[in-house]
Amino acid sequence: MSLIKWSNDLSINVQEIDDQHQKLVDMINSLHKAMNDGQSQQIIGKIIKNMVEYTESHFQLEENYFEQFNYDLRDEHKKEHDQFIEKAQKLQNDYFEGSIRIGIETMQFLKEWLVDHIMVSDKKFVQCFHENDIV
Ligand SMILES: [Fe+2]
Repeated sequence: MSLIKWSNDLSINVQEIDDQHQKLVDMINSLHKAMNDGQSQQIIGKIIKNMVEYTESHFQLEENYFEQFNYDLRDEHKKEHDQFIEKAQKLQNDYFEGSIRIGIETMQFLKEWLVDHIMVSDKKFVQCFHENDIV
């Protein structure tokens, strides 16, 4: 069973962002599956690396819109992104150094962070995006 099930609650009604969020959900689910299937470090490492890279480019896209639209909560939103990237990069480095294994706590952290970030912080910029014709 998937760790995160995509549902309408996760949709923010901005197509481009929803598509990227779905891809992030898929990536977290693949990491969870790889962990449960006992996949090799090489495979799990690759999934983590792709996930971190994709997350960075996704945040960048949101932040470019924030700048373009002069979104009022951009600083606090960007701060959440930066803190997450810092944690995700640490996770990646620790995993590659062999000092941690990916367990259920890590998966729970990724799931809760993403779901919470989408449903609380991302939902706040929807009105601003819609006003700027990003729908
Ligand atoms: Fe965000």
